[in-house]
Amino acid sequence: KGLRVSDKGFLNTAVLRSEITYIDGDAGVLRYRGYPIEQLALHSSHLESAYLLIYGSLPTKSQFDMFRTEILRHSVIHADAEQFFRSFRYDAHPMAILTSAFAYLGSYYSEANPSLQGQTLYTKGDKASLAVMDKQIYRLIGKATTLAAMAYRVRQGREFVTPPTGLSYTGSFLYQMDYLGQENYFPNPVLEKALDVLFLLHADHEMNASAASVLQTGSSLVDPFSAVAAGCASLYGPLHGGANEAVIRMLISIGKPGNVPAFLEAVKKREKVLSGFGHRVYKTSDPRSFLVRKTADEVFQITGKDELLETAMALHDAAMKDDYFISRKLAPNVDFWSGLIYRAMGFPNDYFPVLFAVPRVVGWLAHWRQMMLQTGGVKIWRPRQIYVGSGKRDYVPLDERV
Ligand code: CMC
Repeated sequence: KGLRVSDKGFLNTAVLRSEITYIDGDAGVLRYRGYPIEQLALHSSHLESAYLLIYGSLPTKSQFDMFRTEILRHSVIHADAEQFFRSFRYDAHPMAILTSAFAYLGSYYSEANPSLQGQTLYTKGDKASLAVMDKQIYRLIGKATTLAAMAYRVRQGREFVTPPTGLSYTGSFLYQMDYLGQENYFPNPVLEKALDVLFLLHADHEMNASAASVLQTGSSLVDPFSAVAAGCASLYGPLHGGANEAVIRMLISIGKPGNVPAFLEAVKKREKVLSGFGHRVYKTSDPRSFLVRKTADEVFQITGKDELLETAMALHDAAMKDDYFISRKLAPNVDFWSGLIYRAMGFPNDYFPVLFAVPRVVGWLAHWRQMMLQTGGVKIWRPRQIYVGSGKRDYVPLDERV
């Protein structure tokens, strides 16, 4: 009664007030806690921006040292997790493994589960409960890279690598992925830095589908590991974090620049999807896409150009001049160029969404923490619906049905 379906797909519904990330979709502006993404990409690091997103201000030196140390210290995973990873088929999609792994991780930390403690765990101003909350945050960010590296190596039948000490967040991640047993193995510093910039750019993007999944799930007061698993599942889809993988599949199917016009005609007839273009909020170019494009050039200097780059550029240029895309305000989003970088760095195509999920753990946790500590407590997200099915019917036994 009194209900109406007003906004399918939440096109114009704000579900909360947030202090975390600001987007002006018409002007192509993105800010983390007020800081322009361009300044952060140039001067900050993924972990420093993570602190900013989660706690609201840039850390002092001692705050940052403590945060970084805690995160890297919590990167180690219980040895039993090896059996869990070995239980997947050799060809399992790494996002299926990662999603499961986040939920699995929660089984180790009952202190993070309010229902097991019989209380609402996190209370604003209460040091003890905030310390419990912070610990889950360190664990999730710290272990995200380790879980992701394990999801990578298990498919290759390789031994797992214990997180090293003394490397950066992305350095440790790359080390765990490709360590071949040489004592002096260190990731290429340019690629390590490039990945850090990409992580920073993917860390948060206000109320997207996966952040909403984390909040919807977290609003039942479940533990943050389960809520992050829900976010990871949502990110997996090709309309969201799976788009970077879809872009490469699309470019491979186009094959060469000469085939671009025919492909765009098929998109206009809705026979194909132009992955990596369009956005719910941006009605101009996604500001992250320029920064990703710049990072691509730096990476290609080390790795050499990706063979798909020319096709990608031809597709980009043709779409940006085409009335169909101009009139619908469709422009490249963050996923258009990122897959080309990951490919050049040697990551398999189906691993790209994992490279989106690992840094996005930060944004999910920033939103989750803000919700848990909101004034007045958490209200469960329980939307309504309008029932349009049949009226009352009487049950007919199976052998009387025609
Ligand atoms: N190719 C062709 N046409 C498109 C595209 C596209 N990629 N995106 C939107 N359109 C058209 C759509 O058909 C519609 O046309 P019409 O008005 O004639 O029916 C119009 O543009 C408006 O699009 P919409 O589907 O209403 O937009 P939305 O806000 O519901 O969807 C989107 C946003 C990102 C799901 C969509 O643009 C899309 O499917 N893009 C491709 C997938 C992709 O790159 N996703 C990554 C998004 S950015 C990173 C992230 O959040 O994960």
